[in-house]
Amino acid sequence: MAKFEIKAKDGLARIGRFTTKHGAVKTPLLMPVVHPGKSIISPQALTDEFGFQMVITNSYIINSHERFRNKAVSEGIHALLDFAGPIMTDSGTFQMYFHNLPEEEIEPIEIVEFQRDIGSDIGTILDVFSDPDVGRTKVEEDVQKSLERAKVSIDKKGEMLLAGTVQGGAFPDLRETAARALAAMDFDVHPIGGVVPLMERYRYADIVKITLAAKKHLPLDRPVHLFGCGHPMFFAQAALLGCDFFDSASYAKFAESGRMLLPSGTMHLSELTELPCSCPICSGTSADDLKSMEKSEQGTMLMKHNLYVSSAEMRNVRQAISDGKLFQLAAYRARGHPTLYEALQVMMEDNMQFEVEDPIGKTSSIFYTGVETTKRPEISNFHSRVIKRYPYRHSNTVLIVTDSGLRPFSDTSDVIIKEVRKRTPKELILLFVTPMGVVPWELEHVHPAQQCIFPMKLDLETLGIVSERTRELLETMKYQKLIWFMRGTNVEPALAKISSDYSVETFQSATDTIKQLPIEGNESSWTRRKLHALLTYQWGENAGKLADLDSLQVILSKSTGKIRHCKRNDDILFTIVPNTGLLTPTYQGGLELLRVRIDDTYQVIMDSDVSEFIASGKSALAKFVKLASPQLKAGEEVLVLDESQNLLGTGRALISGLEMISFNRGVAVAIRHPRKS
Ligand code: GUN
Ligand code: ZN
Repeated sequence: MAKFEIKAKDGLARIGRFTTKHGAVKTPLLMPVVHPGKSIISPQALTDEFGFQMVITNSYIINSHERFRNKAVSEGIHALLDFAGPIMTDSGTFQMYFHNLPEEEIEPIEIVEFQRDIGSDIGTILDVFSDPDVGRTKVEEDVQKSLERAKVSIDKKGEMLLAGTVQGGAFPDLRETAARALAAMDFDVHPIGGVVPLMERYRYADIVKITLAAKKHLPLDRPVHLFGCGHPMFFAQAALLGCDFFDSASYAKFAESGRMLLPSGTMHLSELTELPCSCPICSGTSADDLKSMEKSEQGTMLMKHNLYVSSAEMRNVRQAISDGKLFQLAAYRARGHPTLYEALQVMMEDNMQFEVEDPIGKTSSIFYTGVETTKRPEISNFHSRVIKRYPYRHSNTVLIVTDSGLRPFSDTSDVIIKEVRKRTPKELILLFVTPMGVVPWELEHVHPAQQCIFPMKLDLETLGIVSERTRELLETMKYQKLIWFMRGTNVEPALAKISSDYSVETFQSATDTIKQLPIEGNESSWTRRKLHALLTYQWGENAGKLADLDSLQVILSKSTGKIRHCKRNDDILFTIVPNTGLLTPTYQGGLELLRVRIDDTYQVIMDSDVSEFIASGKSALAKFVKLASPQLKAGEEVLVLDESQNLLGTGRALISGLEMISFNRGVAVAIRHPRKS
C-alpha cells in the first residue's frame, strides 16, 4: 500500500507527504545521519532545534557492536536512539564499499531481517555500490547482484517499509535497467545509490543524467532518495530532478575538517575573517573566536552551523516548489560552482521529462537568470501549445511587434492593439516577439507570456531560440504581407537573423506601421476572437466553437478592460483567472465543454461510488480515479465525470493523469464548481 501523496509540483519536484509508523513527514526532506552511540547532537535535538523530521542511522554499525545490538534487539531502534519520530536505516552498503570489506561481512537477507526486527521505519537492502570508474562490466555485475538481493529482500520486509536502491554507476542505460526491474517489485522508496564519489568529484552533470534515467522508470508514487547527497548547494537541483529524500553525513564530516556548508558552496573556516551566514552560531560568534576555539568545541559549532544551513535550504526548496520557483532557485545555486552550472545545462538540454511533468497554470513570475531561462518548461510548453493549438493561421497581414519583456504588452502597444481589435484574424494577425519567444496577441495574458522579466541585453543563445520559435510559428502561416514593427527592443537581433528568409516590410514607428495595415473590416468582435483562441489553447479545437455561440455575452473587467467572464443568459460559463490568464469553467461551462466533446485528455472519470461526494463539492481523490489520460498535465482545468459520462464538477488537476492512476492517496482534482443538487 502506497504511503506517499503529492500536494504540489514544480518541474519533477513534488511537495509530498510520506506516512510512516512513527508519523508523517513532508518532502523533500533531509535526514541527518546519526551514529547509534556517539551522536554529538541527539536525534531529539535535531528535531527540536533544527527542524529535521526524520533521521537515518546505520544498521550494520548497530549489528556489529554488541551493546547497540542488544539494546536495539530488546527495546527497538527508537529506544536505542531515544527518538520517537521516523527512523530510516541503511544496510552497510557504503561501509562495504568504502572499507573494501569482504563479501561475508554482511549477509544480505539477515541485515534486512535485522532492520525489520529492531523496528526501523524504512529499511534498506544491501545493494552493491559501484565505484563510477570501475568499468562497465563490473558495474553490470553489481547491478545484477543488487537486483538479486532486492528480489530476496522484499519477502522479508514484513511491516517495515523497504528501500530498493538503484545502482548502475555513471551509465544511464544501466540505471534505466535497474530502475525498471526495481519498479516491478514491492518497494516503498527508491534510493539512487553510488553517487557519493560523483558528489565528491563534483560530477553533478553525471548525477543529473543518471537520476533522470532512473526517474523515467521509477513508480511515481514512491519517494526517490538521493543517497549521500548532503551538500545544500545541490538540494534545489536534485529536488528539481524529482528527488524527495536526502541524507547528510556531510554536516559532521565537513565540520571535522573545518569546512562550512553554504547553499552557495563550501567555505573553509581558516580562510574566513567574517562568518557569512545568519544562523544562530554565526550570529553569536565571530570568525576569530571560532578559529581560536578548542577543536572539539569548534567542530560542534561548525556542525550546528552546517545543520542550520542544510535545514534552511531544504525549507527554501519546499517553499520554492509551492511557489513554482524551483527552477529559479536551482539556477541561482548553479552559479555557486561551474560544475553545478554544467549540470544545469545538461538538465535543460534534454527537457522532455520536464515538459511532461511541469504543471500548467502557474502564477509565478519568471526572472531571467541566464541562457537557461528561455528553455524552462513553462516557456517551452507555452510555445509547443501555441504551435499546436493557435487557431489563426491564414491572414492577409501578419504583424510582428517586438517586445522587450519588461512590461505588459498592453502597456506598450496600446495604439497597435486598438487597430487589431477592429480587424478579423483573416485580415490581421498580431504576434509579439519577446525574449521568451513568440506570443500571439490573443494569448497575451496567458502565463508565462507576461510574467517573464528579461534584461535589455540578451545573450546569443536566447536570441537564437527566439528566432527559431518565431520561424516555427511563421512556417505554419499563410499570409500576403508580413510587417515588422521594430522599436529598438532587445529581441530585434533575433529577427534580423531570419529577416533574409522572409519578404518583409519593416517600420520603426507605430504610425507608419498602422498605415500599412489592411483596411478595417466590419467585424469588431475582438472579445470572441480572444475567447476562441483561449478555449482552443486550453482544451483543443472543439472547445473553440463555444466562442461562436450567438447567445454568449463577454463581460469585461471595469478596472482593467480585460475579459473577465463569459455568460449565457444569466449563467457564468467561464471566468478568467487574472494571474494565469486561463479560463476556469463553472459547472454550466463544464456542461458546454462536454457538449462540444472536448478532448478526452481533460476528462477525469471517477468511480461511481463517490459520485455524490464529488457532486457535492468534495475533492476528487486519486484513489477513486477510474480513468485519466496519460497526456493530462498537472494544473489543467478538467471535467470530472462519473462512469456514465455525467458531469460531477469542474476543477483543477493537482497531479498529472499518470499520477492519478498510480497514486492511492491524495487529491487528484480540486473541485472548483460541483454539480450540487
Ligand atoms: N549510502 C551512500 N550511498 C549509498 C548507496 O549507494 N547504497 C546504500 N545502501 N547506502 C548508501
Ligand atoms: Zn552559520
